[in-house]
Amino acid sequence: MAGVMTEPFTIAVDGPAAAGKGTISKALAAQFDMGHLDTGLLYRAVGALTLAGVDPIEAARGLTAKDLERGDLRTPNVAQAASKVAVIAQVRAALIDFQRAFARRSGGAVLDGRDIGTVICPQAEVKLYVTASAEVRAQRRFLELHDKGLDVSRRQVLEDVKARDDRDMNRVEAPLRPAEDAVLLDTSELDINTAVARAIAVVENIRQG
Ligand code: C5P
Repeated sequence: MAGVMTEPFTIAVDGPAAAGKGTISKALAAQFDMGHLDTGLLYRAVGALTLAGVDPIEAARGLTAKDLERGDLRTPNVAQAASKVAVIAQVRAALIDFQRAFARRSGGAVLDGRDIGTVICPQAEVKLYVTASAEVRAQRRFLELHDKGLDVSRRQVLEDVKARDDRDMNRVEAPLRPAEDAVLLDTSELDINTAVARAIAVVENIRQG
């Protein structure tokens, strides 16, 4: 842990699926003793409720902490459902206040997602855009799902990653793209420790500004 902060300080970490955002964000939160919000979980919870028959807008407006604890949120079906409900403007709008409040909590916060640096927190003190080639990301996600005992094929995982990239990047509402002032971190050729060390260095540089 390096230097505890009491002022709000927001680190926005955006990028496509399985680029390493989650691991990097958790490591940054631990390093700087900040809160961490995986905003993808909000969309996954809405996606899961929608698969269970709830209207997506109602699901987003009524989302509870318990919905975020469902055991099925990390499955490929729920990931696809999440990216489908994420195109709906009213779903996104319903989730904004919670994310912004979290971002400005005292002591600082790391938020990871798709639109944190562009829409949720355009004033974030640090913006990182973490990416990697679709093939590398699909291989990582394949190993992750395989380790969890899910029966998936490499080809299917690659197709799913590409379908989600396409939906996330080409939607009208808050499309996935780097903020103009984001620092790009391509993890295709990096092991996770190196990627984390680079991200920490970016934050340190900006904090020492
Ligand atoms: O990050 P994760 O893979 O869990 O996100 C699931 C889906 O939720 C994404 O594919 C994306 O469509 C949506 N999402 C979003 N905006 C965010 C976070 C996630 O649209 N800030």
